[in-house]
Amino acid sequence: MQYFLGIDLGTSSVKIVLTDEYQKQIGTSSVALEISRPHPGWSEQQPQDWWQAVVSGLGRLRAEFAEEYKNVIGIGLSGQMHAVVLLNKEMNPVCPALLWNDGRAIEEAKYLENHFPELADELGVLPMAGFTAPKILWLKRNKPDVLQQTNKLISAKDYINFKFTERLCTDFSDAAGTWLLDQQKRIWHQEAVEIVGLHKSQMVEIVESSEIIGSLTPDVAKVLGLHCSTQVVGGGGDTPVGAFGSAVIKEGRAVISLGTSANIFTTTKNYLTTDKSIHSFCHVLPDTWYQMAALLNGASVFNWFSSVLGVSVKECNQDVFENYNKPADLLFLPYLAGERTPHNNPNARGVFFGLSPLSTRTEMAQAVFEGVAFSLAESYSCLVDSGTVMDEIILAGGGSKSQVWTQIIASVLNKPITKYKESDKGPAFGAARLAMLGCGQYKINDIVIEPEIGETIFPDTQFVDSYQEKIVQFKNLYKAVQNEFICTP
Ligand code: XUL
Repeated sequence: MQYFLGIDLGTSSVKIVLTDEYQKQIGTSSVALEISRPHPGWSEQQPQDWWQAVVSGLGRLRAEFAEEYKNVIGIGLSGQMHAVVLLNKEMNPVCPALLWNDGRAIEEAKYLENHFPELADELGVLPMAGFTAPKILWLKRNKPDVLQQTNKLISAKDYINFKFTERLCTDFSDAAGTWLLDQQKRIWHQEAVEIVGLHKSQMVEIVESSEIIGSLTPDVAKVLGLHCSTQVVGGGGDTPVGAFGSAVIKEGRAVISLGTSANIFTTTKNYLTTDKSIHSFCHVLPDTWYQMAALLNGASVFNWFSSVLGVSVKECNQDVFENYNKPADLLFLPYLAGERTPHNNPNARGVFFGLSPLSTRTEMAQAVFEGVAFSLAESYSCLVDSGTVMDEIILAGGGSKSQVWTQIIASVLNKPITKYKESDKGPAFGAARLAMLGCGQYKINDIVIEPEIGETIFPDTQFVDSYQEKIVQFKNLYKAVQNEFICTP
C-alpha cells in the first residue's frame, strides 16, 4: 500500500493528514502557530516556526502510525495565501513573513488602485491591503533595506517545499494571490513586479500544483524518518487546494465556505474578470481558473456575538433556531474585520441598526446570521454579474452545521442549498490528493471522487420577498455609513 501526506500551513496551525491510496484518512496531526502583532494592524510569523511546526507534526504521525508513515511516497502542501516571504542569498528569511491578514499596506493598495486602474483586469482583482504586492510596496517605502537584501520572494508553503527539496519555486495558485501574476497568460506581470519595487530576478519559477518539484534531501529525509525517494509536489494556496479536495474543479458548482472568514468559490474553464472585487485566480489544475468572493467575516462573527453575550455558540444558535419565525426587524453589517468582497474596505466595521427597547438578544443573534447571509447575497450577485455560472450551491465549513443559518442563507439567496455528508475535509486533504495526482499512478477522475450529498435545504417561500427588500436596506445602510469608518486597526 502507498501512503501520502497532505500538509496545510494555515495561519493558526499546521494540519497534516496521512492518507492511503484509497484516500482513507489514516491519521492527522495539528500543531498550533502564534501570530505576532508588533504594531496595530500588523500580522507576522517566522518562517522558521512554520518549519518547526511541520517537523513536529510529522514526528507525531511517525510515532503513532510508524508502519504507514514509512511507506509515504508523496507529499503535497497547501498554505495560507498572500504571505510575503523574503529570502536572502543564503536562502534565509530576511524578515518575518507578512501575512494575508496584515493590514499595514492600506495606503499602498489605494495608490496601486488609483494609479494603475487597468492592471486589475490582468492581475485578477483590485489590489487589496493583505495581498503580497501592496505589502512589498510598503516595504519599499518604509524598509528599503529589506528589499535590498532580498534574493527571492516566495509564498508561505514554498518555504516548506524549499526546506524539503532545496528547490525554490511557487505554483500558479499561490502566484495568483500575489497581485503580480498575469492570470490569463500565467506568467509574472513585468509591469506590476517593477511598480512595487521588485526585479524579475527576485521572482521564482512557477510550477503546476501536482508537478513533482523534487525529492526530500537526504538530511531532511533522515530528520523526518522518511525515504529520500519521497517526492514533493508543487502544492497550492489553501483556498483552491481545499476546493480541489472537495471536487470543485468543474464549472457550475459554487461552494460557500462558512469558516472564520467566508467565501463563495466557483471553478471556470476560462479566465473571467468583471467585478474587480471578485478574485479571478489560477486554480490548482492546468488551464483552469476560479472565481471567488472573499469575505473576511464568516462564522467568526457569530462566535464573537455569542461571546459578547457570554453564552456558547451552541446555546446562541439554539436560541435563534427555537424562535425563528420571521426575518428580524434589525439590520446588522457584519464587517468586524473590514471587508474584501464587495467593498475592498479594510476600515469597514460592524453595525447594528434599528435597535429599540423591544430588541432582544435573540433578535440580535438572528440579525447577525442574516447580516452574514446578506453579505453572501451581495457577493453572490457580484459573481453572477461577472458571468459565473452557478447551477448548484454547496454549503461547507463550521457555520454549515447550523440548521437555522443554512435555512436563512437559502431564503436570502432564494436558492436551494446542498450539504455534503462529510462536510469539508479541509485543504490538507486536498494537498494529499495533489500528492497522489503527482506521485502516484492515478488518473484525475479516480482521485477526484464526488462527495456524497447529505441534504438539500430549500428557501422558505414566505420569507423570500421580505429578504429581498432587506438586502436593499442592507446595501443602503452600508452606503450611508461607509464614509464614517475611520482607520481603527
Ligand atoms: C484567500 C485568503 C485566505 C488565506 C488564509 O484569498 O486570504 O484563504 O489564504 O487562509
